Amino acid sequence: MYPFTTTTGIVRNRWYIAAFADEITRQPMERTLLGTPVALYRREDGAPVAMYGICPHRYFPLAQGTLRGDALVCGYHGFTFGPDGKCVAVPSQGTGAGFCQPTYPIEERGPLCWIWLGDADKCDPGLIPPYDDIEMGTPGWRYSSPNYAHLKGRAQLLVDNLMDLTHLPYVHHHISGGEAMADPKMREEQRERSYRVVRMGKLPWTGFNVLVWGAENGYEGLADFDQLTDFYGPELIRTGFPIMTAVPGHDTVPPELGTMHIMHGITPETEHSTHYFGFSTRNFRLDSTELDEFQYQSDCKIRQQDVVAIEAVEARLEHSASTQRELLVRSDGPAVKVRRLIQKMLDAEAVESKEPAA
Ligand code: FES
Ligand SMILES: [Fe+2]
Repeated sequence: MYPFTTTTGIVRNRWYIAAFADEITRQPMERTLLGTPVALYRREDGAPVAMYGICPHRYFPLAQGTLRGDALVCGYHGFTFGPDGKCVAVPSQGTGAGFCQPTYPIEERGPLCWIWLGDADKCDPGLIPPYDDIEMGTPGWRYSSPNYAHLKGRAQLLVDNLMDLTHLPYVHHHISGGEAMADPKMREEQRERSYRVVRMGKLPWTGFNVLVWGAENGYEGLADFDQLTDFYGPELIRTGFPIMTAVPGHDTVPPELGTMHIMHGITPETEHSTHYFGFSTRNFRLDSTELDEFQYQSDCKIRQQDVVAIEAVEARLEHSASTQRELLVRSDGPAVKVRRLIQKMLDAEAVESKEPAA
């Protein structure tokens, strides 16, 4: 499966974002995650439930059923499943069926619900990406602008896209200053929970900066910046606005020119399609709903531009990848590194799946 040597491009033993927390309600919803249709709903006490989404009786989608207390009642013949998956009622028999529908671990953390569809014995909530590192829930930081895009393309194309920001001035040409990403100096760092790429460059004050930091915080000349990209795993990547390291006319960087992390939650829907969850955290203009809205609109626009580019690639990929070898260049370094990391994860899972059961 391009660009990997395994037949699948999906790493299963990870926590992936299943949904924004406010999407899961007492009205069951269905979402296909890692190729599996999953019914998502909340118990009466508010806890989220993730259950295999197809009724075992006649394969009706369970999310089209209704809730009775904490149980999900199939909308076709009324088979009823408790939140643990146990079939507790078959109306035509007046009993349960002694059958258990698969359910999956789901963890609600702030505005996100994470699901584990991998091996049960490897499931550890400690593997959810580190919130303190992305400043989720950190005092002095604001979470904002959640948005969602559906992508008719394999998840790895989105990972490639995020690891190579030289596409900025071409795909996102409305962002002034994007040329600073065309050929920046780069250094990499292996951190405890992420592989980090730092791009370093110089940035003039632009119209885009005015919208983010406010006109009153402008400067003359060129500021030095670091731009961080952190690969936490195939499920989450952080990019973000340039973080100023030196600003002309200032001895220290004014706090108003703060940091905004842009988070990219990547959840394979199938081998060839992806759920793309976006949100951001920032440590400046904390009360600005105007900035929240600007960031939301900007994110939606930017992600849509990426979606269009990636879908154009996916649509031709079978032909392209079998016809011509990829031309990899210097700027592909981080993307290639990340592909290797993911290939390792895929290889490990492929070996495990071949091991005879103990
Ligand atoms: S298909 Fe669900 S009860 Fe028959
Ligand atoms: Fe992009």
